[in-house]
Amino acid sequence: MKNIDALRPTFHITGGEGWINDPNGLVVFKGKYHVFFQYNPYGTSFGAAHWGHVASDDLLHWERLPIALAPGDDGEKDGCFSGSAIVHDGKLWLLYTGFTRNDGGETERQVQCLAESSDGVRFKKRGVVIDSAQLPEGYAANDFRDPKVWRHGDKFMCVTAARKTDGRGRLLLYSSRDLLSWKFVGDMFGEDCRGAMTECPDYRDGEGLLLMSEVSPPPEGNAHLNVSTTRWYVGKLDYTSGKFDATSAGICDYGFDFYAPQSFAERPVIIAWMNMWGRSNPSDKYGFAGMMTVPRRIEIVDGELIQSPVISVREVVRKRVNGELKDNVKIGAVNIVAKNLSEFRLQMRKKGDICTELSLADGEWIFDRSSSGEPIVGDEKDADSLAGIRRMPKRRSVNTDITIVFDEFSIEIFIDGKSLSSVVYPPTDADELALSVKADACEYTRSEIV
Ligand code: FRU
Repeated sequence: MKNIDALRPTFHITGGEGWINDPNGLVVFKGKYHVFFQYNPYGTSFGAAHWGHVASDDLLHWERLPIALAPGDDGEKDGCFSGSAIVHDGKLWLLYTGFTRNDGGETERQVQCLAESSDGVRFKKRGVVIDSAQLPEGYAANDFRDPKVWRHGDKFMCVTAARKTDGRGRLLLYSSRDLLSWKFVGDMFGEDCRGAMTECPDYRDGEGLLLMSEVSPPPEGNAHLNVSTTRWYVGKLDYTSGKFDATSAGICDYGFDFYAPQSFAERPVIIAWMNMWGRSNPSDKYGFAGMMTVPRRIEIVDGELIQSPVISVREVVRKRVNGELKDNVKIGAVNIVAKNLSEFRLQMRKKGDICTELSLADGEWIFDRSSSGEPIVGDEKDADSLAGIRRMPKRRSVNTDITIVFDEFSIEIFIDGKSLSSVVYPPTDADELALSVKADACEYTRSEIV
């Protein structure tokens, strides 16, 4: 019998044991992909933020490495919060937020700290490099975090999340010549964002792509109902004024569980935290909480962010579908390509009354996890959230291309470049799949992840 304590996603990053949130420090160093993450090794809820660490040759098989950062030094005694990594002078550098608590009082502080490593495994802390004193006048010293560093010409740049003392989220740009001493450049939007606070910004110079997560943005219809959401912006950054001009924008993922994505500077690939603040985690009983999304290749097409999963697969089944199809899949990938799709219903991870469903209604994709297995309770109180529903707009096109990535506890749906990601907790042997389609032509493929 399978040891229930060992139940884990098979190719998604977790902390092994304990709690994880945001991916941090995505970087290619000495030929390997490195991913760090917010990690509490002592329990399955948020606390004592460490940096956990895994590395991989192929973005699919991950090797667990020792904890990279543990809180304790000046400026970060209560947590090593999110941040990023960069390779410089043959070394791996981590720029991260140091957190000092003062029982929530005025002197609670967030500052930016630096650490370095020659082997990419053991890190030496270099202390605080951007202090609250380097915040412009009127910005809050207790909400100043998540530096994302990149190289621009002969300088290093970093964007941090921030807030004005009497306002909402902002993004601040800093520059440096040596990673040690930093200068304020500008407030990237120059006005408050929708969310009470911004978090985990990421910027890619080549694509002019800015990713930004936000805490409690006001709802816009049913476009994003999670307590926190991630947006993308495409535009231009003026390195002199620090201003960012967005020409297009959208929501990164339409599912229940996607937050704080970060990209590898070296590859157009992002990974996000596949979970959400303020939710119960049925996996607590297996000794872990939180996982990352599958890595996603990103590109900008006609000003839109397009995502596709980075997986390596071996095809097992390929069939034309005319009406109904039944199959079994628990872990793997399914691809459905349809021409002039008019009706669609897909039941996944089904067993008896348990199933997770994706359907098409009134030009919208509807994801329903109300009967997906163990209930997940969140802080959201709107009708869709309480009914276990998430919606994603459907592109109007002749061909529809759907890829679904299944792992233990997760379903990630990619349709014509948009994504909808969620965790689910069905019985471990729930693997029936039932597809019903009406289209001019439809082909179904199932693959193993290899
Ligand atoms: C986002 C976040 C970051 C912070 C980290 C703490 O999920 O709140 O802003 O650095 O988590 O773990």
